[in-house]
Amino acid sequence: MIPELDVDPYATAFFDDPYPSHTAVREAAPVVRLSALGCHAIGRHAEVERVMRDWEVFVSSRGVGLRDYKTDPPLRGPSMILEMDPPLHTRRRSVLNQALAPAVVRALRPRFVAAAEALVERLLAVGEIDAIRDIAEAYPLTVFPDALGMEPEGRENLLPFGNFVFNSMGPDNALLAASLAELPPLAAWATRQSQRDRLRPGSIGMAIHAAADRGECGHDEAPLLVRALLSAGVDTTVNGLGAALYNLARFPDQWAALHDDPGLARGAFEEAVRFESPVQTFFRTVARDTELAGVALLEGSKVLMFLAAANRDPRRWVDPDRFDITRNAAGHVGFGVGIHMCVGQILARLEGEAMLAALARRVRAVEITGAPVRRYNNTLRGLASLPVRLIAA
Ligand code: HEM
Repeated sequence: MIPELDVDPYATAFFDDPYPSHTAVREAAPVVRLSALGCHAIGRHAEVERVMRDWEVFVSSRGVGLRDYKTDPPLRGPSMILEMDPPLHTRRRSVLNQALAPAVVRALRPRFVAAAEALVERLLAVGEIDAIRDIAEAYPLTVFPDALGMEPEGRENLLPFGNFVFNSMGPDNALLAASLAELPPLAAWATRQSQRDRLRPGSIGMAIHAAADRGECGHDEAPLLVRALLSAGVDTTVNGLGAALYNLARFPDQWAALHDDPGLARGAFEEAVRFESPVQTFFRTVARDTELAGVALLEGSKVLMFLAAANRDPRRWVDPDRFDITRNAAGHVGFGVGIHMCVGQILARLEGEAMLAALARRVRAVEITGAPVRRYNNTLRGLASLPVRLIAA
C-alpha cells in the first residue's frame, strides 16, 4: 500500500512553512500519493536522484510541471530544453553548454566582481536597505542580462516573465491566473529580445545564434534557446541570493564566519541553495510501467520530486536543518542531477560568490530591521522583502 498524504504543496500555509510536510512525505515512505493532486511524490534524496538520472523512464517531455502534456497541452509551448528528451535535448544542450562553458564564465568574473563591489559601496552609503530589492534582485538584474547581451530597455519584464514560467508548473490556481493575466506583453517582449538583432556581439545570447550559423542548431531554435535562458536564469538566481542573504542575516554566527573569511562565499551560496532550495519541485512522467523503491508505477503517472525535502534528508545530510556555510553541500539536488542538471549553475555560482564575497569584505554584520515578506510562487521559494541594516566593517 502506498501511503496517501493530505499535503497540498500549492497551499499558502504550505508555502509559509513547508518543512513539516516535507518531513511527512519523506518519513512516510520512499514513494507516497498526494490526495490533493492525485499524483505520486518523492522526498528522499536517493529516490529523487534516481528518478532524475533515469531520463528514459521518467521523462521530461510530458512536462516538468503537474500537467501531462500527452493529455493536457501546455499553456505555452514546452520549454525547448527543459521539457525535451534525447536526442533533441542532447543537441540543444551541447549548444547551451558551449555558450555557458566554464571559460566563458571565467571571462565574466572581473566584471561581475567589480559590479558587486560597486553595489556594496552604494548600499553602505545608504545603510538601511531591502536586501531582496536592493541586492538579491538588483545585482542579477544587471549582470545577467548584460552577460546575455540584452539591451537595457525592458529588463523590468524579466522577473514577472520568470514568475509566470515557474507558476505554470503548478495547478490552475490564483497564482497562475495572476501570472497569466500579465503574460501577453511579457511573452512578446521575451520573443523579441531573443532575436539576433537585439543581442550584443560577443555575448552569451549571440554565441547561441553563432552556433546556429555553424549548423549546430536551427536558426529557428536559437532565439528559443536564448528565451529559455531569460526564463530560467533570473528568478532562480534572485531567490538563491535572497536565500543566502536571509539565512546569513538570521544566523549572525554564519555572517561573522563569512566576514572573517570571505573565501567562504562560494560555500555559503551553495549551502543556501541546499538549505532553502530556490527551485522547490519539479515533476517527471512515467513513460512505461516501472518500479521505484518496490512501488509499481504505471505509464502516465506523474511523480512530484520534492527537491527541497531531498536537500534536507537526514539519510543524506548530518544535521540537515542547520545552515552551515562550512558544510560540504556538494551532492544537493538544488541544481538538479543528470542530463537536465542546471546548465547555468556555473554562472549562478559566480553571481552568488561575487556578491557574497563583496559584502563579506565590507560588511561586519547585517541586522534584520523589519518583518520579512514571503513571495508566493508555485515552484520557487523566496522572499519579496527583507529590510536590513548593513553595519560597515
Ligand atoms: C540559484 C540559481 C539556479 C537554480 C537553483 C537552478 C535550478 C535548476 C534546476 C533544479 C534544474 C533542473 C531541472 C530538471 O531537472 O527538470 C535547472 C535546469 C536549467 N537551468 Fe537552472 N537554476 C539556477 C540558475 C540558472 C541560470 C543562471 C540559468 C541560465 C543561465 C539557468 C538555466 C537553466 C536551464 C536552461 C535549465 C534546463 C537544462 C536542461 O534541461 O538541460 N539556471 N536549473
